[in-house]
Amino acid sequence: MSDRQGALVIRRIRASEGRLLRELRLRSLQDAPEAFGQTVVEASTTRLIDWYRKAWQSCRGDQRAWMLAQHGDEVVGLVSGRHRLPTTLLLFSMWVAPDARRSGVGRQLIDGLEGWARRWGATETVLWVLRGNLAALGFYERLGFEALSHGRDAQAGERFGALTMRRAIDPTSSSDASGACLCAKTGTPGGLALSRQPSAGPSSTESQPASRATCRTAV
Ligand SMILES: CC(C)(COP(=O)(O)OP(=O)(O)OC[C@H]1O[C@@H](n2cnc3c(N)ncnc32)[C@H](O)[C@@H]1OP(=O)(O)O)[C@@H](O)C(=O)NCCC(=O)NCCS
Repeated sequence: MSDRQGALVIRRIRASEGRLLRELRLRSLQDAPEAFGQTVVEASTTRLIDWYRKAWQSCRGDQRAWMLAQHGDEVVGLVSGRHRLPTTLLLFSMWVAPDARRSGVGRQLIDGLEGWARRWGATETVLWVLRGNLAALGFYERLGFEALSHGRDAQAGERFGALTMRRAIDPTSSSDASGACLCAKTGTPGGLALSRQPSAGPSSTESQPASRATCRTAV
């Protein structure tokens, strides 16, 4: 487990963070090569300028977003989202650093991403998880995602051995992380800050951290 202390901030990527995005994505692909539909070799051929382009496309607006989970200067997780018209959030590339797992980081990343999506009227989140990735399946089920067996998304998943999962987005939820965006225009940091508190003791087959992140409003 991690001995990190203090606040965890969920925030949107900045335009200037193309290099960081590259590092995080390569790290996630090295750590969990079985979890994603891309290899580290494929990702490492992407030019740096294209990582900056991704960061720029994802730092503002309602089409794409990368959300980062940050402790102090250290980013411990990330997730990306795309807006599919009219009101579907497609979730990709979910990853939390191994020593930051099981403390609520993944849950808060998705809450943050859905907070962004709620602002453009998202009504559901859809994602694909490779069928052999039992840890992620357990995680998504715990968060209330349900498997889809019919429809174009389910068929698309079948083609690459993935299960399609969905959950509704509550438009009135108070977990809206719209303030989580760090806007390239203003450069003003903001977000959800999470303080670590004693865990109630989640059940798991993995090693357990002794602390759990709970949400508070960031300064
Ligand atoms: C899947 C992953 C993102 C989970 O992140 P995390 O920060 O550990 O998740 P959280 O701590 O927010 O867990 C949220 C809930 O899911 C549960 N959970 C997390 N991992 C779980 C697992 N392996 N099995 C069962 N439940 C799990 C937690 O217990 C928690 O439930 P609780 O709050 O009721 O106790 C992380 O394990 C990871 O990055 N894995 C490698 C990459 C990957 O597989 N990504 C998914 C690609 S589709």
